[in-house]
Amino acid sequence: MVLDGLIAIKNTIDPTLTFRRSCREGVCGSCAMNIDGTNTLACTKPMAEVKGPVRVFPLPHCRVVRDLVPDLSNAYRQLASIQPWLQEASKVEKGSRERLQSPKERAMLDGSYECILCFCCSTSCPSYWWNGEKYLGPAVLLQAYRWLMDSRDGARRARLLKIADPFKLYRCHTIMNCTKACPKGLNPAKAIAEIKKQLVAEG
Ligand code: SF4
Ligand code: SF4
Ligand code: FES
Repeated sequence: MVLDGLIAIKNTIDPTLTFRRSCREGVCGSCAMNIDGTNTLACTKPMAEVKGPVRVFPLPHCRVVRDLVPDLSNAYRQLASIQPWLQEASKVEKGSRERLQSPKERAMLDGSYECILCFCCSTSCPSYWWNGEKYLGPAVLLQAYRWLMDSRDGARRARLLKIADPFKLYRCHTIMNCTKACPKGLNPAKAIAEIKKQLVAEG
């Protein structure tokens, strides 16, 4: 994998080479970078898939902290702004310690709970490049959608109204770069379209 190559360079050629990594199996999202022109995870990208020399860059359109480490402070601030935790939760049933969901309710989270917050999608989105301070971007909007779809959460309407903003949400022009870039095969563009539909339905 490309990550193994970077680790080999760090260990044998240049110990100052700086990059993020943790799980080395596509779970933590920290090794996201641009490899040969595409945002992806270094730990799951086989070097053999790249023709010729492997060219690596930090995630595009972010301030670079050092080498392959992008500054994701803005994206993390935006993530915090959608309050990605359970709110006004449904009551715990008597005798149970859990908030139960039916299999159908649980299935509503498929396609969003798997997001590893690597930001490959947001940093490949032209709207986010130009309006990243105000537009929430596909990664954060997918998280917003994940909480809108959680049957245990009671703050759905407040969540919807919070993101119903010409910049926060409606800067998405369905260019689909985000979905193409996602190394986990998720579809943030579809989630954004679903949020817009929910807003129409709410009136
Ligand atoms: S579909 Fe929306 S979020 Fe995805 S790349 Fe296009 S503008 Fe960005
Ligand atoms: S949707 Fe995909 S590309 Fe975007 S942050 Fe989540 S895992 Fe990464
Ligand atoms: S090191 Fe965790 S996703 Fe690559």
